[in-house]
Amino acid sequence: MVPNFQIHSKEDYHRIYEQSRLDPEGFWKRIAEEFYWQKKWDKTLEWNFDAPEIKWFAGGKLNITENCIDRHLADKSDQPAIIWEPNNPSENTRTISYKELHNDVCKFAWVLQKNGVKKGDRVLIYMGMVPELAMALLACARIGAIHSVVFGGFSAQSISDRLHDAKSEFIITQDGTYRGAKVIPLKPTMDDALVNCDFVKKVFVLARTNNPVSMIRDRDVWLEEELSGVSEEDFPAEIMDAEDPLFILYTSGSTGKPKGVVHTTAGYMVWTAYSFSNVFQYQPGEIHFCTADIGWITGHSYIVYGPLCMGATSLMFEGIPTYPDAGRFWEIVEKHQVNILYTAPTAIRSLMAFDKNHIHRNNLDSLRVLGTVGEPINEEAWQWYFKNIGKEECPVVDTWWQTETGGILISNLADITPAIPTMATLPLPGVFPLLVDESGKEIAADSEKTVSGNLCIRFPWPGMLRTTWGDHERCRTNYFATYPGLYFTGDGAMRDPQGNYRITGRVDDVLNVSGHRIGTAEVENAINMHTGVTESAVVGYPHDIKGQGIYAYVIFNHLHVDEEVTRRDLLETVTRVIGPIAKPDKIQFVSGLPKTRSGKIMRRILRKIAEGETENLGDTTTLLDPQIVEEIVKGKM
Ligand code: WTA
Repeated sequence: MVPNFQIHSKEDYHRIYEQSRLDPEGFWKRIAEEFYWQKKWDKTLEWNFDAPEIKWFAGGKLNITENCIDRHLADKSDQPAIIWEPNNPSENTRTISYKELHNDVCKFAWVLQKNGVKKGDRVLIYMGMVPELAMALLACARIGAIHSVVFGGFSAQSISDRLHDAKSEFIITQDGTYRGAKVIPLKPTMDDALVNCDFVKKVFVLARTNNPVSMIRDRDVWLEEELSGVSEEDFPAEIMDAEDPLFILYTSGSTGKPKGVVHTTAGYMVWTAYSFSNVFQYQPGEIHFCTADIGWITGHSYIVYGPLCMGATSLMFEGIPTYPDAGRFWEIVEKHQVNILYTAPTAIRSLMAFDKNHIHRNNLDSLRVLGTVGEPINEEAWQWYFKNIGKEECPVVDTWWQTETGGILISNLADITPAIPTMATLPLPGVFPLLVDESGKEIAADSEKTVSGNLCIRFPWPGMLRTTWGDHERCRTNYFATYPGLYFTGDGAMRDPQGNYRITGRVDDVLNVSGHRIGTAEVENAINMHTGVTESAVVGYPHDIKGQGIYAYVIFNHLHVDEEVTRRDLLETVTRVIGPIAKPDKIQFVSGLPKTRSGKIMRRILRKIAEGETENLGDTTTLLDPQIVEEIVKGKM
C-alpha cells in the first residue's frame, strides 16, 4: 500500500510544504498516525535550539521493529524484506521474507537477552555486509538496546575509542568479511581493540570467512551456536519511549575525536520512512538497492530502517562495484530487477572510467529512479549516470543530508519535482533551510540572482540528532552555538531565485573523501603519533574520483634517506590509528608550516597550495616566517 503521506504531484508538494510551514505540529501528527504505536504520544513537539532540547512525539510508546517487521506480516509475510547479493557472484543469493526476518530477528533478540543484554545497554557492531548485520541492528532495537555500528574498515584503535566512549559491554562481530578479492579479518582487529578492555562481557561472532580467530573463554561465543539453542517464539518487542535512544553512530567533526551522534526512536522512524517513501516514490513490490555500507548513516536509514518501515524489499550487497569487474552493479540490477538504485558520486566517477561494454552487457530497463548521496555530484558524473544508466528515462534524485539529520532533508522527489543537474534542489516538507553570512545574518531570498552562504536549518524535523553521546555540550557547541537559534550544517550552499539549493561542500575542517567524512584534525593526530613527526597539517584537495583527496604537510625530524620509506611508515601509522580510508594521498615533508604570529596554522594557504595554486596565496606578510611558503610551493607533490 502506498502511504497517505506520499506526495503525488508538484502542486501537491508545494501545497504540502506550505501546510508543514503553517502548522508543523498538525502536519507531523497526521503523518505519525500512519505508524504503529503501542500508545499514542501526548505532545507532538517540544523544542529549544539553545539547550538544545528536542522532543518529538513525547509520551508515545512504540518499538521500531514492530513498524519495520510485525506490521507487514498481515499482508507481506512472504514478500522479500531483504535480498542479499554476496561478494562472489557464484555464491548463492539469499532472500529473506518478512516472515523469516521476523523469525530471525526474534531468535537473535532471544540470544542477546539470554546473554544478558538489556534495554539501554550499548552494543557495538563490527561486521561486513551480511544479512545478519541488518538483523543485529533490528535485534538490538527489539530488545531496546542501543546499537553503535562501526564501519568494518576502521582500525582496532578506532573501535577501542568508540567502545570506551559509549561503554559498550556487548559486541557483535564476525570472523572476517569478503571485499572483492580480499578477505578482511574483523575478529582479529576486534581482539586487538579488546586488549586490556575488561568491561566487555560478551562477543558474538558470526562465521563467514573461516579465517583463524581466537575465541576467549566465557567472553566469545559463536553466533550460530547461540542461535540454534533458542526459542522459535515471538520475542515480545520492548516498549520504548518515543525519545529513547535507538542508536549511536560516530562521525567526524572539525575538532577532536569522532563524536557519537544519538538518534531516538520515533522521530528517526518517522523521518526515514517519510523521506524514503517521498524522495524515491517507492511503489509496493519494487526492489530498492542502496549501495552504501550499513556502517554509515546511509545504510542505517536507507537499507535498514526506511525501506523496512515502508514494507519495501531492500537489496544488500556484500562486495564492491569493481569485483569481479566494473560491471557488477549493472549485473546486480539485471539479476534482481532493481527499480531504485541509490549510490554515491564517487562510485559513479570510478565506474565512468571503465569501458561502456560493462553497461551494455546488461539490461537496465527495470530501473525507475536513480539516487546519489554523500558529496556534491559534478555535472559530468550526473550526465553520465542519467544517460548511460537511466537512459534519460529515470529521474536522478540528488539527496543532501548528514549523519546528524538522520535522513534526507533537501532533494528533488523522483518525477514529482524537477531534477536539476548538480543541485539537491528543494527541501522536503517540514524542513526550513536558510543561508547565513559569516556573522549569522540571514541572506535574503533574491528573485534575480543566485546567493550563497552557510547552510542552516531554523526549525526541528523529527529525524534530527538529539545529542552527542556522553557530551551534550559538544552537541550544542558543534551545531547550535555558531549561529544562535539555528542548526548549523557545516556546509556551504548556493540558492537560485527559484529556491533550489546546490550544496557546495564543507566550510569547516571536515573532508569528504569518496563520500566518507574524515576530520583533518583526526588525520593530523594520527600522523603526529609517529615518533618522528614534529608537527603536521592536513587539508583536502580536489580529486577526480574521490571528490577530495587528503594532502598532508609533515615536519619530520629525521627523514629516512629514502623519503618513500618514511611515507610508507606514516601511511601505516594512519591505517593503525584510524583505518585505511584516512590514508593521505600525498605527503609533503616540510621544514616548517606557515603560521601567524600567534601560532595559528594558516590552512587557507596550505589548501591553496594543495589545490595547485602557487600564486595569489593572499597576504602572507602577517606570517611568522613568510619564507616557508616559498619552500612549500617548491616542494609541492
Ligand atoms: C555531504 C551522508 C552535496 C555534505 C549522508 C554533508 C552532500 C556530508 C550530499 C554528510 C549531496 C551529503 N550533495 N553534499 N547530495 N549529501 N553531502 O554525515 O558535505 O557521512 O555535510 O552523511 O556529506 O556526510 P555524512
